Amino acid sequence: MLPLKDKVALITGSSRGIGNAIARKCALAGADVVINYRKAGGSSQEQAEQLCKEIEGMGRSALMVQADIAAKDSVKKLFSETAGRFGRLDFLILNAAKAPFKPVEKLFERELRQLVETNYLGNIFCIQESVPLLAKSGGRIVFISSLGSRFYNPAYPLGSMKAAMESVVRDCAESLRHKKILVNAVCGGIVRTDSFKILRQYWENIDMLPDELFVEPDEIADATVFLCAPESRGITGQTLVVDRGLSNSLFRAVSNP
Ligand SMILES: NC(=O)c1ccc[n+]([C@@H]2O[C@H](COP(=O)([O-])OP(=O)(O)OC[C@H]3O[C@@H](n4cnc5c(N)ncnc54)[C@H](OP(=O)(O)O)[C@@H]3O)[C@@H](O)[C@H]2O)c1
Repeated sequence: MLPLKDKVALITGSSRGIGNAIARKCALAGADVVINYRKAGGSSQEQAEQLCKEIEGMGRSALMVQADIAAKDSVKKLFSETAGRFGRLDFLILNAAKAPFKPVEKLFERELRQLVETNYLGNIFCIQESVPLLAKSGGRIVFISSLGSRFYNPAYPLGSMKAAMESVVRDCAESLRHKKILVNAVCGGIVRTDSFKILRQYWENIDMLPDELFVEPDEIADATVFLCAPESRGITGQTLVVDRGLSNSLFRAVSNP
């Protein structure tokens, strides 16, 4: 009934959007949860505080940690606070992402650095810091990817980082196998979150996409919980696509039934 009972899940970037849904679903599945966000003192922090209260209301423990995954010291603090509070970590969910929406050839140097530092280096810093804890529990790592890892979108340079991370997932699945850590990804379709509100301004004809092809945050969260649960013990190095069939129907006219 509670597949993640007595376990601890850390979800990067979980104050809002998909990360928030994953944190809530992990708690509903029985886990204690570490909620991470980047911006102190704003609405992101308020949403993280609200989520903490909700999770505690479910009878689980929640720890809120402000940390920027792009900064190694900040990542060290995230994991040392987790270990200090819970003494263990079972699931690392790499959800945080931030990137400008413009073609890759138009990125300023500072945008390029932010793209790589948050979405590639930041995730790897988290993996590195988590390994000693996950090795003790035979834990799991789940990376949240997107269809940009495999399909062109003119205003989505984040796609190249997602592709790189799906490759890191395959690498780590092998290199961490002897530590009994399973590493997988969930590749989400299009989800109406804060970041999508910005992306849609640059995406011609996105409004023609039928409603039923938009994915709910909870659908990504359910797949993530599955990849943490005992039932997925035979899966590692894989990317599970959760897009309501969008990528399977890319060449069909939008108006077709
Ligand atoms: N929306 C979609 O259509 C879609 C589809 C497939 C996959 N995804 C992926 O799902 C994940 C979540 O997307 P979303 O749309 O829910 O994003 P979102 O609404 O923009 O939320 C992003 C979260 O990440 C945090 N964050 C950003 N940079 C961070 C950093 N350097 N360190 C720590 N936390 C950081 C943010 O915290 P602050 O608010 O404090 O900055 C926020 O909590 C991303 O990996 C995204 O690529 C999204």
